[in-house]
Amino acid sequence: MDLEDFSREEPEQAFEAPLKKNIVLAGMSGAGKTTVGTLLARLTGRTLVDTDALIEEKAGKKIRKIFEEIGEAGFREMETAVIRELENTGDAVISTGGGAVLRRENVESLKKNGIIFFLERNLKDIEPSDERPLADSLEKIEALYASRYPLYKRIADETVHLKGTPEDAAMEILERYRDKT
Ligand code: S3P
Repeated sequence: MDLEDFSREEPEQAFEAPLKKNIVLAGMSGAGKTTVGTLLARLTGRTLVDTDALIEEKAGKKIRKIFEEIGEAGFREMETAVIRELENTGDAVISTGGGAVLRRENVESLKKNGIIFFLERNLKDIEPSDERPLADSLEKIEALYASRYPLYKRIADETVHLKGTPEDAAMEILERYRDKT
């Protein structure tokens, strides 16, 4: 093969090489996405990418402050930008903010090279937190749960119920991931 042939072939091979798929975790604030995501990253040797952490890093401030300064709408714009950038990642564990799947375009970006797992947790096991402006009271959590549950079910490739330990959930996700890839 001369040099010219070689240069013609290489990009084609690179193009055809399949990306490994991301393991994407979705679900309510406080469902345990970060805990399960950390375990999955450890088990697979992959990087854990947390969309909220990326947003905070870009903004140089905490989520609560971002909400105070530019409101939920501004936050959602930042979230969409961060998720779009993740289209170039194919071998990570991605933990998404509870509202990240509200926008269709975000779901499309995440599904391009990822499998979305909905981490389903009983409402009574989710606790409010001051760090989460949309989930800092039981009333807010209940309302969010009711409005988002059908959406989570609809967009998810797989639903995993968090009734055992986070380790059990991580192992179940890994098994199902392997079945699907
Ligand atoms: C949100 C959930 C939060 C964070 C932001 C908005 C939501 O992430 O993205 O406060 O809309 O439910 P966690 O699910 O990690 O708490």
